[in-house]
Amino acid sequence: MKKLLAPSILSCDYLHLEEEVDAVCKAGADLIHVDVMDGHFVPNISIGIPIVEAIARMESPPQMDIHLMIDSPEKFTEKFINAGSPHVKIVTVQMEACNLLYSALSSIRWRGVMTGVALNPATPIGVIEEKLMELIDVIVIMTVEPGFGGQKFIPEMLSKIRELRSLLDRMDGKKPLIEADGGINLGNIGEVIEAGADIVVTGSGIYKTENYADTMSAMREIMG
Ligand code: DX5
Ligand code: ZN
Repeated sequence: MKKLLAPSILSCDYLHLEEEVDAVCKAGADLIHVDVMDGHFVPNISIGIPIVEAIARMESPPQMDIHLMIDSPEKFTEKFINAGSPHVKIVTVQMEACNLLYSALSSIRWRGVMTGVALNPATPIGVIEEKLMELIDVIVIMTVEPGFGGQKFIPEMLSKIRELRSLLDRMDGKKPLIEADGGINLGNIGEVIEAGADIVVTGSGIYKTENYADTMSAMREIMG
């Protein structure tokens, strides 16, 4: 399967949001990663429903990969899907924030949107029970502590991606995709792909570089 590149707009210039999203879409972004933070689950407040609505109103709206770093995400999954409809491809909830994981994932799935479960660096893969795998389309391995863009990649997460890759490769039938998220740039994207990621999220790795298109084509080169 083609490896997907999902620029995170957390580090973009919000004064020129449409141009910033357009620029990475024109440079071949497969998904736009929207980092939603509530100041409770993570010590930062970022963007929310109005931004998702605005992106959905763009001339040619991209497919969105919405990452909910919020407490009780099950209360908001449908609101975000409605806000971005029909351009929401994935909605991801944090395993650590979700007491009602089953209903959160079901509420996403029944809207025909891909379900994502994100694991923070200290959360072991084993928390995802085999029987739940059926309801999960994407497992997000956080390669930084959630809350901020521009952080340093945690190299120990490469073995976690490898561990998940080999676990999924041993599974029969439909299996979740692996998404890696946080601190990924031109310097380490190769190792992340090598470890087994299917989707790579990078924010500052693109938006803090001189030329987004050059950066993304160099990343594409490496991603294969
Ligand atoms: C961190 C977010 C990541 C992050 C990616 O909480 O989930 O998506 O913004 O940005 P960079 O690539 O700058 O770490
Ligand atoms: Zn994210």
